[in-house]
Amino acid sequence: MIETWQLLVVVMVLLGTSCGLPSLTPEEIRSLQVPKPVSYSGYKLFRTDVGLVDLPVVDSLDNSDGIDLWSLRKKNPEYEIDLLTPPDAEQKVRGVFNEYNLTYQEVIGDLQRAINLELSEDDAFLWNRPAHPMTWEKYHSVQDMYQYIDYLEAQYSHLVTTEEIGLSYENRSLRVVKISTGPNKPAIWIDGGLHAREWVSPATVMYILHHLTEFSWEEPDLVSNFDWYIMPMANPDGYEYSRLHDRLWRKTRSVNPESPNCVGVDANRNFGFKWSMGGSSQNPCSSTYAGPKPFSEPETRAIRDFILSRKDQLKVFVTIHAYSQMWMLPWSYTLEVSPQYQDMYDVAKLALDGLKTVNGTEYSLGQVTDLLYIASGASGDYAHSVGIPYSYSLELRDLGQYGFILPKEQIEPTGVETYQGIKAMARAVYDKLFPPVQFPISVNEEATVSIE
Ligand SMILES: *[C@@H]1O[C@H](CO)[C@@H](O)[C@H](O)[C@H]1NC(C)=O
Ligand SMILES: *[C@@H]1O[C@H](CO)[C@@H](O)[C@H](O)[C@H]1NC(C)=O
Ligand SMILES: *[C@@H]1O[C@H](CO)[C@@H](O)[C@H](O)[C@H]1NC(C)=O
Repeated sequence: MIETWQLLVVVMVLLGTSCGLPSLTPEEIRSLQVPKPVSYSGYKLFRTDVGLVDLPVVDSLDNSDGIDLWSLRKKNPEYEIDLLTPPDAEQKVRGVFNEYNLTYQEVIGDLQRAINLELSEDDAFLWNRPAHPMTWEKYHSVQDMYQYIDYLEAQYSHLVTTEEIGLSYENRSLRVVKISTGPNKPAIWIDGGLHAREWVSPATVMYILHHLTEFSWEEPDLVSNFDWYIMPMANPDGYEYSRLHDRLWRKTRSVNPESPNCVGVDANRNFGFKWSMGGSSQNPCSSTYAGPKPFSEPETRAIRDFILSRKDQLKVFVTIHAYSQMWMLPWSYTLEVSPQYQDMYDVAKLALDGLKTVNGTEYSLGQVTDLLYIASGASGDYAHSVGIPYSYSLELRDLGQYGFILPKEQIEPTGVETYQGIKAMARAVYDKLFPPVQFPISVNEEATVSIE
């Protein structure tokens, strides 16, 4: 027999594919198909107050005839008990309540009806939402993220444009969102997801994108003073592989004909500045494999070409990773210090002050080689080497309690605090680029007013 929910799935799939509404991925369709939900039609939830003497009687009903004790709360001097009761056992349960003179009430008259109501509310919620599935309550697919990007471009066309800057090895789109209110502004680049398993990174970049667009009015200076180039998903092949096959996958998914059994390159060791000069591997099976040559990967080439085409405009390069709570400066290939170190440090200090105000989250600040290790071929070094003065590599939450498997409940808090840090960073960079005017200005001696 075809149940209502199955019809609903079929209708959703048909609608999704024929009218451009959110279509379900094969994984989502599979997850909806199995397992078939149990029907709780006619099940009642009774609540009763029981004294200690009669407690064993009620307790013994649990697990007999499909009865399920949902909850037992101490409520001095009695116990309050919730008992889920199938239709066939209702007579028996009422009989026991009456026999022991227990007062009781029917909390839920038909559990299936309650479930359906909850479902229909969910559906209404879904269908009433704008044409995108994005939330910060779970880790989303690449498709969900791109659907949200499409939505932003359609909804905020005066502010948002998107560009495909290349294709991944498996031919997924590599997309950059541009947020701009007009020409001739310095620009900030933010990317996430270069390492596949660091799921909170793309989620956080999406959160930043969400606020810079849908809440741009809250921070008018940020969108009027800068162009923003945002690439939430720098390694979509690896991310999907991590979602569907191996949660801890880090690299790209390119196949090297010389080592077909060891797939992928560490994209953050593949950039062509001081490539393969320490802290990366020549072994294709290693998770830090630098690749057969610099920029062997279409993903790193796409980022390179985009950055080079705008390197005079770009003042800030931020690449977001996880985890360890670090805000890092170049260089990562050498212990030597960049001439820009102090400026980068000053700005990052203010960024972290901002980040910390949200929930006290502490980050370490310093050069990559001071906080982690030598790593050559990283994107932060490459960006700095082509002349982008402020280059930052971030490691988001946490400090290792969950590591890469950060619970989804922490996506939004991570997004909120990181966005706070990014905002403070942007303002601090702006002040560095255009130092605030000091008052009073002596235009000429005559015009100077004495205020002594
Ligand atoms: C329930 O109440 C009735 C009437 O008050 C009484 O006769 C009976 O003994 C009580 N049963 C129990 C188990 O206390
Ligand atoms: C990507 O697309 C190109 C051109 O259509 C094709 O030759 C190539 O095999 C595709 N790559 C993969 C991994 O599917
Ligand atoms: C904020 O910090 C407090 C104290 O460290 C912690 O208990 C709480 O879970 C944090 N909240 C979020 C949203 O991270």
